[in-house]
Amino acid sequence: MKILNFGSLNLDYTYQVSHIVREGETILAKEVGLNLGGKGFNQSVALARAGIACYHAGLVGEEGLDFYDACETYGIKTDYMKTVTGRCGHTIIQVDEKGQNSIVLFGGANQKNTKEYVDEVLKNFDTGDIILLQNEINELPYLIDQAFAKGMTIVLNPSPYDERLEECDLGKISVFLLNETEGQQMTGMTTPATIISAMAASYSNAKIVLTLGEGGSIYHHGDEELYQPAFKVDAVDTTAAGDTFTGYFVAGLIKKLPMREVLINSSKAAALAVTKQGAASSIPFMSEVELFNTD
Ligand code: RIB
Repeated sequence: MKILNFGSLNLDYTYQVSHIVREGETILAKEVGLNLGGKGFNQSVALARAGIACYHAGLVGEEGLDFYDACETYGIKTDYMKTVTGRCGHTIIQVDEKGQNSIVLFGGANQKNTKEYVDEVLKNFDTGDIILLQNEINELPYLIDQAFAKGMTIVLNPSPYDERLEECDLGKISVFLLNETEGQQMTGMTTPATIISAMAASYSNAKIVLTLGEGGSIYHHGDEELYQPAFKVDAVDTTAAGDTFTGYFVAGLIKKLPMREVLINSSKAAALAVTKQGAASSIPFMSEVELFNTD
């Protein structure tokens, strides 16, 4: 079984600020850093650190060549990654004193996918293989249709949520991982319980994971529902916490671990990620997750 993550690669310009800038306000940042990120890339890193080497497909712009070396270092296969002319995807991330963030995303190369490129990548995958997707690239509806037609298992993190997701046939998704905001946007519901009920009613065969930040996470599939509390840590930077959870969760599914263990590992990994600055670079190794003392 092969694992493909078809997703974004962003250069993250991260600014440490006292508070997230308000409308009309100018503030002085305390520090700035340039990190490799993007929900797609971060999730490939989380998979790798959880022990699953995936293929990453996606487009980088001319100033994004560092992603190739980084993938090699992390143990991510780059056979289907491509460089295109023009700017790389990038973000401007503000991180405040409580570790909370706010992100402006410029799509760049991530929005230049074509049906031909999707076909070129997917011809290397088959029934039973897994594809992981987020919503930071274009051609998502086509990717979902083509992957489903091949019999691939599709895992979707509908993040960030926007109206383009409404063009996707979400009935073809086997696993959804979403946070409370995305859950509200997708279902129109406002509480975790009603979001889960609405998702389960619309996608009755899918596994659904709703992450609630410090409030923990809920797993729902058919008659099974599990609640997993979050592990308490001092947050430095919450960027990529959700990506860390997603990568560890998918790794746990692939390893066929009991669901409680999958949720504990994913929650521990996400908690450890928020104790460090940066996106991909904050994602812990499985060995750190195993040693994480939660008493
Ligand atoms: O989820 C975190 C990621 O979201 C960052 O790395 C940034 O690139 C944005 O896409």
